[in-house]
Amino acid sequence: MNILSAEFIKSSKYLEECPEANKPEYAFIGRSNVGKSSLINMLANKKGLAKTSSTPGKTQLINHFVINNSWYLTDLPGYGYAKVSKSERASFSKMIEKYVLGRSNLVNLFVLIDSRHLPMKLDVDFINWLGQNSIPFNLVFTKIDKISQREFSYNFKKYSQELRNTWEELPEMFKTSSEKKIGKEEILSFIEDTNKY
Ligand code: GTP
Ligand code: MG
Repeated sequence: MNILSAEFIKSSKYLEECPEANKPEYAFIGRSNVGKSSLINMLANKKGLAKTSSTPGKTQLINHFVINNSWYLTDLPGYGYAKVSKSERASFSKMIEKYVLGRSNLVNLFVLIDSRHLPMKLDVDFINWLGQNSIPFNLVFTKIDKISQREFSYNFKKYSQELRNTWEELPEMFKTSSEKKIGKEEILSFIEDTNKY
């Protein structure tokens, strides 16, 4: 898919404030600092479209962008950010939960996983929760430029094994590097193939 235009629409704190659900929507979620905003900029081919930061917790609202005037791309706040209070974290989780369960035009959720780590409980729990709620999702391993092919294969294998404990079928998985522009075409093709509203 060629990206002809990518525009920021709005930031929303609550599901009710999100733009009208009149276009297919693809959202990006994952731990704080995993590389969501960077991935969005790579996909949209526009540096600075989504704000990135080396400090975790940069994205605190639901940010909607519209691509080619035809589909929404959504940057969600990271979950599991340690430096906010317990109550703030709980209200974040509530906001994400409401969005994920209630956004009627959501076609797919891309769950980002830092490829440098072995499976982490928080991510596995979130993935299992999506499965239990029949939310369509797939996994995106980020920052693969930071590890060797061997390390990646190992972590990837561990992830697959972990998910097979609970699920018979594994979701589609993508490997990406926003730094090296890896995985862009694969994700955009997936979006193009499912983008029928
Ligand atoms: P929050 O909004 O805080 O939840 O973070 P985020 O998931 O949106 O992460 P963001 O895109 O802001 O990136 C976090 C840090 O990781 C930044 O310093 C990025 O430059 C870096 N980063 C993101 N993607 C990659 C990548 O593919 N390779 C490398 N080497 N660094 C990356
Ligand atoms: Mg972000």
